[in-house]
Amino acid sequence: MFMCRKYNISEATVVVTGATSGIGFETVLNLTKKGAFVIGVGRTQERCDKALEKIIERTPDAKVCYTAADLSSLRQVRDLSARIKSIVRETGNEKIDVLVNNAAAVSNWYVSTEEGLELQFAVNHLAPFLLTYELMPLIKNSDVGKVITVSSGSHYRTRMRWKDILMRKHYNCLSAYKQTKLANVLFSTELNRRLGPSSKVRAFAFDPGLVNTDIGLKGTAGITKWVWQKRKNKGISPDIPASAIVWLIENADIQNTNHVYWKDCKPKAPSRYSQREDAARRLWEISERLCGLKWF
Ligand SMILES: NC(=O)c1ccc[n+]([C@@H]2O[C@H](COP(=O)([O-])OP(=O)(O)OC[C@H]3O[C@@H](n4cnc5c(N)ncnc54)[C@H](OP(=O)(O)O)[C@@H]3O)[C@@H](O)[C@H]2O)c1
Repeated sequence: MFMCRKYNISEATVVVTGATSGIGFETVLNLTKKGAFVIGVGRTQERCDKALEKIIERTPDAKVCYTAADLSSLRQVRDLSARIKSIVRETGNEKIDVLVNNAAAVSNWYVSTEEGLELQFAVNHLAPFLLTYELMPLIKNSDVGKVITVSSGSHYRTRMRWKDILMRKHYNCLSAYKQTKLANVLFSTELNRRLGPSSKVRAFAFDPGLVNTDIGLKGTAGITKWVWQKRKNKGISPDIPASAIVWLIENADIQNTNHVYWKDCKPKAPSRYSQREDAARRLWEISERLCGLKWF
């Protein structure tokens, strides 16, 4: 573990997506115990209500609220951003210190979203891209702004399918998932490049390792579900990567490093493909086009 100067997060406002289960839920719990104000995002109101109840049960004085959005819909991501901005302003604040893009989906089948995009690409990559774009004005108001996107070791040994990025012609669940986790690293690297070296905001891609959660049981069936059911038991408890995310948030020194990819509270070299500038730029431009925006 890197030694570091710690930033006091009891003053921080943190947005966490995928906050109703697994790593995201444990991250909210950990942050609220340390006194941060957390806005948790969940897929449905019912899931949000249950998660909020569990957080309050374990941390009665938690400063926390939950809001629901289906992140497969770009329209809902925009509505969510507007809601988050108004929640932040209601607290008398004009800043978000950290955005944790944690939500992700796995789908056995090709699922077309509201905007006609592939589900995993929409939830795992485009939603973080668009949410970060929408919230950036508030993140820039923080002295220590961080955008942490939860990637995965599965980004190694894969590449972008430029000719069929939404995998409409040849859909494969695992290949589609791996491509989105590679996109998380390319996005974080390119965001830093575009923000420039003097920016107070830094982006990081986080690798949680193999974690015992239900992610591979939700949009799957048959062999994929069976494999994940076996594999997840070898994974670590979700509170371990959650603590590592909180460590990244608290760490004041990593803001000045060039390390993008972090695992177990240490920087790690991401795949060679993920360090290709041409790939990062190309993905950025495609993401802008699919989200219908021009960023910078
Ligand atoms: N588990 C691992 O071994 C592992 C390894 C590497 C990377 N990761 C990454 O870790 C992150 C967290 O995953 P996890 O393992 O903690 O799994 P998880 O418990 O299934 O958490 C995923 C979260 O994303 C939410 N979500 C899924 N689809 C959504 C949608 N359409 N709209 C809004 N929210 C949606 C889920 O909501 P619900 O609660 O409603 O399902 C859940 O809160 C992901 O980015 C994943 O890729 C996990």
